[in-house]
Amino acid sequence: MTGTLLVLGASADQLFMIETARAMGLHVVAIDRNPDSPGFARANESAVVSTRDVPALVELADSLRAKGHRLLGVTTMGSDIPDVVAALAAHLGTPGPSTESARLATDKYAMKCRFRERGIPIPWFERIERAAELHAAVAARGLPLVLKPLDSSGSRGVFLLEPGCDLDALFARSIAYSRIGACLVEEYLPGPQISTETVLWRGRGVTPGFADRNYELLDRFRPQFMENGGWVPSTLDTAERQAVEDLVVRASLALDITDGVTKGDVVMTDEGPKMIELAARLSGGDFCESLVPLGTGVNYVEAAIRIAIGDTPDLDALTPRFERCVANRYFFVEPGRLRRIGGAESLRGEPWLAKLAFWYAAGDTIPPTRSHAERFGVFVVVGRNRDEVQARIDEVYRRVEIVVDRVAESRGVSAAGSGVGVAPTA
Ligand SMILES: Nc1ncnc2c1ncn2[C@@H]1O[C@H](COP(=O)(O)OP(=O)(O)OP(=O)(O)O)[C@@H](O)[C@H]1O
Ligand SMILES: [Mg+2]
Repeated sequence: MTGTLLVLGASADQLFMIETARAMGLHVVAIDRNPDSPGFARANESAVVSTRDVPALVELADSLRAKGHRLLGVTTMGSDIPDVVAALAAHLGTPGPSTESARLATDKYAMKCRFRERGIPIPWFERIERAAELHAAVAARGLPLVLKPLDSSGSRGVFLLEPGCDLDALFARSIAYSRIGACLVEEYLPGPQISTETVLWRGRGVTPGFADRNYELLDRFRPQFMENGGWVPSTLDTAERQAVEDLVVRASLALDITDGVTKGDVVMTDEGPKMIELAARLSGGDFCESLVPLGTGVNYVEAAIRIAIGDTPDLDALTPRFERCVANRYFFVEPGRLRRIGGAESLRGEPWLAKLAFWYAAGDTIPPTRSHAERFGVFVVVGRNRDEVQARIDEVYRRVEIVVDRVAESRGVSAAGSGVGVAPTA
């Protein structure tokens, strides 16, 4: 039998990784607690096990070995579980993040303390557990500030605190997302926001993933931070880009990640780039699976897999092969019951539309949007430049009609015509 790779997660987020691993000739065992995971059909084998249940994963790995599998490694994409990857890789004796790196990467406070110790530029921050501490921080520092749970993800409970906001209510909502019952309050960093993905090997890092994040919907979701996709290529100039790349490599090394992948959230401030955070994993969604391959011709998921199985990645092959403009955008829909989605089929024939997906079907209940988890759908468009891509984004929003019945009012609301239901165009 060829070597086997364990992929943690078999949802839409991991499809690209499962397919890339198979194209590399690996035997892929996809693992997910959801028996209907779409990735199961694409993998060689599947196992219905929670990707957070380390003892069950260890048992699964042992039984695969007993059946003759040569387990080369374990990895994931999009799922923020470096602790699980670390534990399972340690059990298998294959490469993976250390337990300490995984801890630092998933505890926003421990991470910021480490960054501060190592001289990585970051916003002022403080750990708080009670509303009174938030009031004290506001009194001392003034507004705006940012409030977030210490140990969550997907922008859950991440709020921009501005004059006039209800600090007690926002604190209660934010801390509700923290398992350990703590939040971070931070200086708000103004400036363009960048997403990066860095591949590290033996302490050398290259950053093939580099996108501008799009926050045009801040006003609609205020005080909640809600990103609406991104752009490749970035509009930062070469020197700024270099400064960001240097920073994310230093930040990765500060978390002792010398071999593997990291995903950075960076703000380009007037004082230079600063780190918001660094995740010890590949992105989910479209960044490494669509924006970068379509925009530059580079697939660094393959490099990430090579590192996970102990092969040497070719970092020099991760430089852009071409430059094309690509963007992804989301649909955010008002809560209610979905009656229908119109206009999608004719759009799918457009050569510039790389992806159009909805996570709800007619009859489904649409929950209120409180985090990235409640996004309604996504699309990816390509073009020669930002103007052309923006026009196509506008066209998708115009042509897709999402009709939601508001449950309380029980009358149809046409999303496209009224602007209710789909994300407004920029
Ligand atoms: N100090 C800050 N200054 C400016 N913007 C911030 C700050 N902290 C967070 N944000 C914005 O809010 C977003 C979410 O914050 P953060 O990354 O800390 O939380 P998260 O739950 O991990 O979310 P995500 O999964 O979107 O990264 C950031 O990507 C950034 O756009
Ligand atoms: Mg983040």
